[in-house]
Amino acid sequence: MTTAPHLPPHAAEAARIAAANRARAVPGRKVYVKVFRCDGPGKPSRWETFQVTVERGSNVISMLQQIAANPVTADGKKTTPVVWDSGCLEEVCGACTMVINGKARQSCSCLIDDYAPAEGDTITLEPMSKFPVVRDLWVDRSRLFHNLKRVKAWVPIDGTYSLGSGPTESPESQEQRYVMSTCMSCGCCLEACPQFNLEPDESAWDTSFIGAHAINQARLFNEHETGKRLKADRLDTLAAAGGVNDCGNAQNCVKVCPKLIPLTESIAVIGRAVTIHAFSKWFSGR
Ligand code: SF4
Ligand code: SF4
Ligand code: FES
Repeated sequence: MTTAPHLPPHAAEAARIAAANRARAVPGRKVYVKVFRCDGPGKPSRWETFQVTVERGSNVISMLQQIAANPVTADGKKTTPVVWDSGCLEEVCGACTMVINGKARQSCSCLIDDYAPAEGDTITLEPMSKFPVVRDLWVDRSRLFHNLKRVKAWVPIDGTYSLGSGPTESPESQEQRYVMSTCMSCGCCLEACPQFNLEPDESAWDTSFIGAHAINQARLFNEHETGKRLKADRLDTLAAAGGVNDCGNAQNCVKVCPKLIPLTESIAVIGRAVTIHAFSKWFSGR
């Protein structure tokens, strides 16, 4: 017998609504797709609406593929195919993230049945607003990855010679860290965060808010037996401008993370670690 995963209340409510919509979805229905389009960085943007036919279980990407095969708007105007990004098609790479009916999520795992179950329903697609638009629904997430570099989100090993076996990790610690390691760098937590804003000036990235994803990864690697060798460097970054103290505790991030990572818990853990780190530096005079 399988048991349903334990979901936090916000996720359980969203799952309940989606299941109800799925149950009444009409196969072969025609729905409208309203897409926020932009031909490239700095170019003007516009809305375009398309009509597509959907079968039960179709996802948003299949809808975009239909539009790509026949790029004609619902009022019959020929246009260009809508551009989007994707990779894994199984909610692992994060590349296909976009704002669907006002909420950031992955378009590959988003079933149209959940949002537009009836004939004539409309679904809206927009690019995430916290990253520069490359074209249409495709955004440039470079800053997200840059912020992972700021916290040295890796295990420091020299792979040029044999280091022997590493320190033992307890199964309890592995289990606790597992959920943190499922982050797919999708950007949903940044899209929802009031402290993380679009920053076109790359020279300001190192002092702008780093984001919940990077704080969580700092915790993940600080709790890893080998990863913790860089703990002091990570905490120095997170104590500086744009670090953990810039978090306003709005808690939006934890509500939108598709992997249900306990982001606010990670923020609290890192917040305490930064304070202890600052005291120990002060007392030791380093
Ligand atoms: S808790 Fe912090 S990181 Fe999360 S949404 Fe709020 S301000 Fe952003
Ligand atoms: S923490 Fe969650 S929402 Fe944020 S980038 Fe990772 S998977 Fe996406
Ligand atoms: S394509 Fe990889 S998460 Fe959707």
